Amino acid sequence: MEYRPLERHSSRMVLLATVAVSIGGLGGIIPLFFLKDSLPPVADVKPYSALALAGRDIYLREGCVNCHSQMIRPFRAETDRYGPYSRMLESRYDHPVLWGAKRKCPDLARIGGKYPDDWHVQHMRDPQIMAPGSVMPPYPWLERTPLDNRTIVKKMRTMRRLGVPYSDSEIAHAPAALQGKSELAALIAYLQSLGTAVRNEHGTTTSKITVRNLPPSSNQADDLLVAIGAKDQVLAGRKIYREFCTGCHGETGHGLIGPALLDRQEWTYGTGKPEDIAKVIREGTSNGMPAWAKHFNYQKTAQITAFVHSLSHPADPYHPPLP
Ligand code: HEC
Ligand code: HEC
Repeated sequence: MEYRPLERHSSRMVLLATVAVSIGGLGGIIPLFFLKDSLPPVADVKPYSALALAGRDIYLREGCVNCHSQMIRPFRAETDRYGPYSRMLESRYDHPVLWGAKRKCPDLARIGGKYPDDWHVQHMRDPQIMAPGSVMPPYPWLERTPLDNRTIVKKMRTMRRLGVPYSDSEIAHAPAALQGKSELAALIAYLQSLGTAVRNEHGTTTSKITVRNLPPSSNQADDLLVAIGAKDQVLAGRKIYREFCTGCHGETGHGLIGPALLDRQEWTYGTGKPEDIAKVIREGTSNGMPAWAKHFNYQKTAQITAFVHSLSHPADPYHPPLP
């Protein structure tokens, strides 16, 4: 066949190339428009609550989507890590979709319910506390910034025009639902709603966490013993505790996300000996306790250990906790 006449006219060439490429593309896309009703239904895909919708806008504004994808691909490596792969219908109320293209950071498609709200509060204040070494920037202003509730009615009406079934009363009540909330509260409401429909359908949670066995101790037990019961060391440990641990273990050690450390009798890791406590603090656990080895040198570890030890040992001269 003679191609020359085609190749010598760039406009003709472009036109024909476009037609040729479109056939493939349209062949893939057009059937999906008609398939809509025959897709397997995903139970419980609900429109975002007013608060979550406002949070979604903060997610957009802060550029979270530049790092985080929301699309679990049907690959073993991804479904093992994040849970069931994303279904098309799960994005039905997303305008625009936030699937994302960069896949260097964790996918958030099923983050909802993975952690308690408090975890997100701490993580947004300082990601490094929850995930040592994290490159995620902190967003400390979100919890200080009141949520603007003046535009929510317009937003919801627009969403309704795009096919999200918000009722008149939901729209009318939206400004009140946002009243007095912080931007962080909205963002967390949004994160907690992500990807929960499919999980409910399967009745399982995505994060199957197994407790890692701690390796046998290499010990700095002597350093520790010097710190135990020494007032200045316990006081120094208390300061560290206030800075890094209260968010999860509570101000007085009564427990929040993390277990109570005050008057603890039975320990998950070891028996409450100083070296057991120090080890958990240094190495963390895969069940939510961060590893602190990179943050604290041995002296600081000994101090914080001395404080935690004093909380749980009535025989310690500084139990109950120092004033
Ligand atoms: C510079 C890239 C970057 C940006 C921007 C970013 N993150 Fe992250 N994010 C990360 C990385 C890396 C991790 C994994 C380490 C960690 O947990 O901090 C992460 C983890 C998370 C996690 C925990 C995921 C899990 O499964 O444990 C959540 C939730 C999260 N980010 C939400 C957000 C939100 C919301 C924003 C926007 C306000 C945001 N991130 C902005 C990089 C980023
Ligand atoms: C992100 C929240 C979080 C922070 C911050 C945190 N912890 Fe924990 N901590 C946990 C959780 C969750 C557990 C339970 C882990 C498990 O069972 O595997 C835990 C467990 C522990 C244990 C072991 C308890 C046992 O029964 O063996 C000790 C000790 C401890 N934390 C001390 C600290 C100290 C000291 C700090 C501050 C330097 C701290 N934690 C900061 C969440 C946290």
